[in-house]
Amino acid sequence: MSKLFQNYKRLDIEFVKAKGSYLIDSQGKKYLDFSSGIGVTNLGFHAEVKNALERQVGEIWHTPNLYQNSLQEEVADQLIGDYDYLAFFCNSGTEANEAAIKLARKATGKQEIIAFVNSFHGRTFGSMSATGQDKIKEGFGDLLPHFNYAIYNNFNSVKELVTQETAAVMLELVQGESGVLPAEPSFVRKLATYCRERGILLIVDEVQTGMGRTGQFYAFEHYGIVPDIVTLAKGLANGVPAGAMLGKSHLGIAFNYGSHGSTFGGNKLAMAAASVSIAIMKKNGFLDIVQKHSRILLEELKKALANKNSVVEIRGLGYMLGIETTGDLIKLVEKAREKGLIVLTAGMNVIRLLPPITLTKEEIQLAVSILKEIFD
Ligand SMILES: Cc1ncc(COP(=O)(O)O)c(C=O)c1O
Repeated sequence: MSKLFQNYKRLDIEFVKAKGSYLIDSQGKKYLDFSSGIGVTNLGFHAEVKNALERQVGEIWHTPNLYQNSLQEEVADQLIGDYDYLAFFCNSGTEANEAAIKLARKATGKQEIIAFVNSFHGRTFGSMSATGQDKIKEGFGDLLPHFNYAIYNNFNSVKELVTQETAAVMLELVQGESGVLPAEPSFVRKLATYCRERGILLIVDEVQTGMGRTGQFYAFEHYGIVPDIVTLAKGLANGVPAGAMLGKSHLGIAFNYGSHGSTFGGNKLAMAAASVSIAIMKKNGFLDIVQKHSRILLEELKKALANKNSVVEIRGLGYMLGIETTGDLIKLVEKAREKGLIVLTAGMNVIRLLPPITLTKEEIQLAVSILKEIFD
């Protein structure tokens, strides 16, 4: 009998080794990983990340945030580039969003935050309160007040919820967990302009869409906007727990000494992995190939699944793709796994693909042929 809380549904498979885009289970079976550990190992099990971790373990793997941390400074520089942000490091997506909620409230002196129906922002009380899905919140009693939920891609529904007390609007640019639903560019641009004109902070949750996942380093770069606050985690350190909140530098006054913190946040091991991962993604031409190859994946999928009755739509951005189906989702995922392809689900009827963004054309062909077979 397992001594673990049964809050996860675990399959009877254990992955014990990994290399590049492949996982190997305890029986020696090899799988092409189109989940990246739920959008985490965006570079796959990359040799340079492994080397950086081994090097850092040989030096020192943790120091508290009471001392200088040049690795945090380095990763902040890499993340911020030419943007006007400051960085706070934590350990997960939900923590990054907690930081964002705290910063937005403190910086504006207001409490109301508008989030979206079907959003997902995490499992701690603040992030769970921001999440627009009742099933996530059931049984936990009172949540954080002052959250309201607009309809995704519906600008008027946001305007209707704005009051004098609105501190921020918080959104994912592709709603990941609820079905891989991209935001419409016109909606995002209108929203960003409206928020800027009214002094409402725009928080973009890039926990899943960030770190090259959609073909740009940040998904907001597809939309021609610059959010006031950005949250990151998942792919940030390519598998070592890490999260970050970036906030416009003028907000820094609200996150002054003693206002927020984290024991592990920006840990040396996490920062060593983040630094090398970002450096790989920022190499000249890297993201061009991600864009090119992810377009090939989408086109090949559309071609391969064109005549499949149970495929409703194939959608997404870059390497964040969803195949909406009327088929039996659990069976389809199981069939794919039997054939050596690990995929995810999203919402009630979507196969979610979050492969490593380093996929080769051969890996794309292999995955497409397996997905075609399972729909056959
Ligand atoms: C958009 C988004 N925000 C926040 C989270 C929560 O991240 P974590 O599980 O690291 O707390 C997730 C996780 O799936 C996510 O997809």
